[in-house]
Amino acid sequence: MPRVLCVCLGNICRSPAAEGVLRAKAGERRMKLDIDSAGTGAWHVGAPPDKRMIAAAAARGLDISGQRARQVDLADFYEFDFILAMDSSNYADLKDMAPPNKECALHLFLEFAKGDTLETPDPYYGGAEGFDHVLDLVERGAAGFLNFLERR
Ligand code: 4NP
Repeated sequence: MPRVLCVCLGNICRSPAAEGVLRAKAGERRMKLDIDSAGTGAWHVGAPPDKRMIAAAAARGLDISGQRARQVDLADFYEFDFILAMDSSNYADLKDMAPPNKECALHLFLEFAKGDTLETPDPYYGGAEGFDHVLDLVERGAAGFLNFLERR
């Protein structure tokens, strides 16, 4: 069963959305996946997702309220088959952390979306529309990633 870790900065907005959307879409396709998310930063460890992301996800029928933030750990590079970074800053931080002797499948989440952007913008300091935009992007990335897994 492929193990997939979605990573953003705080693990309260983008990567919890990615985790929730991936889990829902994998379930719809009857695909067995082990899915988790984490943040490169530690500020929100133990916290539930941001209320605004919980609300935006709920409006699409997705309950992400049970998730709790954690920080990405060196062990994650051994425990997951894929680590999917939400933006290129998260990607660079993960690349710096990655054990040199470990061939790790580190990707940008939106590589699989085949859209106009590779960056999932941080919605934290913006308005409600930013959270919806993240969900739009994440839905495309998740569908593309699951297609990639199915065709592998
Ligand atoms: P996330 O958003 O990386 O999508 O979870 C952020 C949440 C909190 C902070 C930054 C980004 N923060 O600086 O507290």
